[in-house]
Order: sequence, then structure tokens, then C-alpha cells
Amino acid sequence: MKILITGGAGFLGSYLVSVLSKRNNDIIVFDNLSTGKEKNIEIFNSELIVDTIENYSALKSAMKNVDIVFHLAAVTSVVETEQYPQKAFDINTLGTYNVVKSAIENRVKKVIFFSSAAVYGDNQNVPLSEKSVANPKSIYGLTKLDGEFLIRNYAENSGLKYVIMRTFNAYGPRQRLDSQYSAAIPSFIISAANNRPITIYGDGNQTRDFIYAADVAECAVFFAENANAAGIYNLGSGSEISILDIAENIVRIASPDKQIPIKFDSPRPGDIYRSVADVSKLQELGFSKKNCLVDGLKKTIEYFMSRNIYRTGKTISNGRGL
Ligand SMILES: NC(=O)c1ccc[n+]([C@@H]2O[C@H](COP(=O)([O-])OP(=O)(O)OC[C@H]3O[C@@H](n4cnc5c(N)ncnc54)[C@H](O)[C@@H]3O)[C@@H](O)[C@H]2O)c1
Repeated sequence: MKILITGGAGFLGSYLVSVLSKRNNDIIVFDNLSTGKEKNIEIFNSELIVDTIENYSALKSAMKNVDIVFHLAAVTSVVETEQYPQKAFDINTLGTYNVVKSAIENRVKKVIFFSSAAVYGDNQNVPLSEKSVANPKSIYGLTKLDGEFLIRNYAENSGLKYVIMRTFNAYGPRQRLDSQYSAAIPSFIISAANNRPITIYGDGNQTRDFIYAADVAECAVFFAENANAAGIYNLGSGSEISILDIAENIVRIASPDKQIPIKFDSPRPGDIYRSVADVSKLQELGFSKKNCLVDGLKKTIEYFMSRNIYRTGKTISNGRGL
């Protein structure tokens, strides 16, 4: 099959390229490399087009004869979308419009859109199901919801098949340290590896639903291949874990012989308290994740420590993917 992945050189995109390249697909990565890196995907067999999804004609010609589109390209930093809302609307909203329009014009069979749990905002009626009210609290969440509406409306009027993935907190090797989703994990690993205290903002009882990046990629491919997969799906582990538990797990795995103090600071404005996905719709479709939290944390800790990022906080990569 011929596949196009927008944002394929980024954190989650590179896992997707890895999964799809093992299945003999013809893969095109369409990425402007703003946060993605060519070295994330260079060991996999794919063609890289360096361009922006704001460029409709480039997208349209890249999608010629493409069967499936995975749409990941986005401004993914909440801070950046708050600082530069116009940029967020240009890329996340209008860029998604360009992706859908090009897909319809090229008779693409299915689009898998990487939306986000951020569309729910600070809804404390957990677990959050796909039927929970979407009430984004950030420009980022709003642009993701815009993307969902664009895809739903245009696809339903044209017959294009689509799946919208509302992913919760993905984590794993290659994650950027400034990721808003699970940056607690790499930053706790760096502190533990350096014997420095771990700082938690808030009382530590705030919860998140973490899902390992390879499982996110497997799930996206499952959606592409499963004829019954249609509409909106939450993607998380279905379990909530407190930030304090995450910190303690990381200390136990990364520095079992050391006493790493855990400190508490004031909560950050806008941080939500509880977040967990109701994944029953996904389970009914037949998908189950492979990596439990402890295994995922072990692989993530091994990755960050083996690349010796901890002294500077900057990745010293050996240029290889996973
Ligand atoms: N990481 C998570 O936990 C998580 C959770 C929910 C949803 N998502 C969504 O999954 C997708 C991938 O996220 P990620 O964590 O891998 O982030 P990322 O920043 O690593 O990946 C985004 C990719 O898009 C590319 N890109 C950005 N603007 C572009 C543009 N104008 N044209 C072409 N390419 C562009 C970047 O270079 C990068 O490769 C995003 O849409 C994000 O909103 C991620």
C-alpha cells in the first residue's frame, strides 16, 4: 500500500514509520522538520518530502495514488500555541483542511487523524469517554477539535473513511524534553540519573493516563487496517497513575541504590488534576496495548541514560532509531 504520513519525522511519527516499514509499504513522510528530525527515520525505508502542510499544492501532489494518510503534523506545544495562536490555526486547523481536501481530491481510502485528549479540557468526570463533552481549555485543544470537525464534515460529505484518535499521554524513547504530554517522564529520568531531587508541581496526586509510543503507532495501523474502525476513539491505557507514583517508579528503576528526594512546588496554572481514558470502545474493536507501564518506563529509562542526555538535558544521539 502507498501511505503518506504528515509529521512522520516527529516522536510518534517515527514509531509509525517503523511499524509500517516492516510491512513492505511504500511510505512518504511529509514533514517540515520544525520539531521532527530526519535522523528519527533514516534507518527506515521511506521517502521524505520536506514541506509544510500549509502548502496545499505540495500536499496534493504528494498524495497522488496514496491509499492511506496518517495526519500527525501539528504545532504540538501548548505554550507555543498560546504564544502564537495564528500559527496554530494556520498549521493545525487550516493545515488539516488542506490534508482532508487533498485526500478527497486524490481519492484516498482512509485518513487517520492524530487528535488529542486536550479536546476534553479540564473535565473531571473521569474516565473520559468519546461521548464526554469536548470543551478545550487551550488554543492547542481548540485547533485539534477544529481538525476533528473538518475531517468529519468533509469526509461524511465525500465518502472518505476516517478515524480520529484522541491520544492521552504518550511517552517513550525519542520524546522531546519539552513535550507537554509526558515531559514529566524524561525530566524525572534526568533528575534520577544525576542524583538530583525530582520536583513535582502540585501535591503529586494529580493523575495521567500514559501510553507507550509503540502502542500508539500499532493502534494507528490497526485503525487503518480494520474495516470496522470508524469515527472517534480514545487511546490511553485506561488506568490513571499519579505523578508521584510515576516519580517513585522511575527512581526505583533508574537509581535503585540511591535515595533521590522528591520535592513539591506550587501547581502550574492550567494543569488539570485528573485525566484517564475510558477505552472500552477501543477494546470492543479488538485492540489491546502490548507494553505495560513498567516495561515502557524501563525502555525509556534505558534510552535516555544510554544517550547520556542527563548532564546537559540535551540528547546526544547515536543517530539511530529504536
Ligand atoms: N505525544 C503525545 O502524547 C500526543 C498525545 C496526543 C496527540 N498527539 C498528537 O500526535 C501528533 C504527533 O505528536 P508528537 O508528540 O509526535 O509531536 P512532534 O512535535 O514530535 O511531531 C510533530 C511533527 O509534525 C511536524 N510538523 C509540524 N508542523 C508542520 C507543518 N506545518 N508541516 C509539516 N510538518 C509539520 C514536525 O516537524 C514533527 O515532525 C501531533 O498531531 C500531536 O498533536 C500527541
